[in-house]
Amino acid sequence: MNILITGVAGFIGSNFLKFYREKNKNDLIIGVDALTYAGNIINLEKEIENGDIIFYKADIRDRDKVEEIFYKHNVEVVVNFAAESHVDRSIHNPQIFLETNVLGTHTLLEVARKKWCCNGKWDEDKLFLQISTDEVYGSLGPQGYFTEETPLDPHSPYAASKAAADLIVKSYSDTYGMPVNITRCSNNYGPYQFPEKLIPLMIWNALNHKELPIYGDGRQIRDWLHVRDHCEAIELVIKRGKRGEVYNIGGNNEWKNIEIVKKLIKILRQKTGDYGIGEHLIKHVPDRLGHDRRYAIDASKIRKELGWEPKINFEQGINITVEWYLQNIDWVKSVITGEYLEFYNKNYNKK
Ligand code: NAD
Ligand code: TYD
Repeated sequence: MNILITGVAGFIGSNFLKFYREKNKNDLIIGVDALTYAGNIINLEKEIENGDIIFYKADIRDRDKVEEIFYKHNVEVVVNFAAESHVDRSIHNPQIFLETNVLGTHTLLEVARKKWCCNGKWDEDKLFLQISTDEVYGSLGPQGYFTEETPLDPHSPYAASKAAADLIVKSYSDTYGMPVNITRCSNNYGPYQFPEKLIPLMIWNALNHKELPIYGDGRQIRDWLHVRDHCEAIELVIKRGKRGEVYNIGGNNEWKNIEIVKKLIKILRQKTGDYGIGEHLIKHVPDRLGHDRRYAIDASKIRKELGWEPKINFEQGINITVEWYLQNIDWVKSVITGEYLEFYNKNYNKK
């Protein structure tokens, strides 16, 4: 199979590449990434060196380039991770979210349609897999779960751009019969996550005895899933998913943000013996605009239909994740340069 992974230099994309390559030695893997602040070629260094991937620095909005890659490598499956992914950035500058997440996805769909469709007939082995998020469903109260039938009700510009992309993907299935799937996953954690997201940001700040900014009361709830479990679910959808369907993916693992931060402090103190790391670093800062209160996924469909279930329990997962960051401090230092640092200093690091 010739599989195109977009956003392959980002957090989930690079984890998926490593996971998928290990299990599918004979597939041709083509990777595309624009290498924005969030995409780092060092995440793929080994795979590029070993010839495990043919990598292109390319923008999914660049139709000519995308078309060239599709035809040159006879792309059969697209897994679209490429996106602007950080809610806070979408609040400051929504434009790029619409351009990449909506128009970029549309460009990929158009090229796939041209390449794969002849007279309304589609080969069974083709697939456009859109990697989406539970944030498209909006926010829950204290009870209940998002199912695949929950109406879309996105709140942040990020979530709205992902919901728009989902609807365009669906329209290509409904209108042209394109073989598609959409997966909607809860919050991921694990290695190679850019240190602007909650878990790696808190680890990095704590190690440097910097403030740990908690938005509002910190009692917002997220459903955390180790990235490897997400990758397993994606592979199952590629191989056995019923085309045209949406699959929710989640860890059934709800935590309040403040609990996560306190847990990280405890683990870091134990692992480093550094007692300068403590709850005194926690600082409640003004809440995120439009902050969703609770996300929680009902993943029973993928469990029943494809036999997926998360394998990494949170205690184990969070410990190995902290360990990874401790052993890869140089990685953290190398990615928080340039554009990210400028943005971070301007918006969050005024002190
Ligand atoms: P990320 O920000 O770490 O990676 C995104 C990658 O896309 C980066 O490598 C970036 O360089 C690349 N990219 C951005 N704009 C591009 C463009 N125009 N052309 C080509 N490449 C471009 O994000 P992530 O956390 O790895 O998320 C990957 C996907 O999974 C996203 O679509 C996101 O919406 C979705 N998702 C993420 C989570 C999560 O918790 N991180 C949960 C559910 C779904
Ligand atoms: P984040 O990792 O940005 O993921 P998402 O917004 O996609 O869920 O944030 C996770 C939660 O942590 C979210 O409720 C916002 C909160 N948060 C903070 O309280 N402080 C921070 O510095 C960050 C980055 C996030």
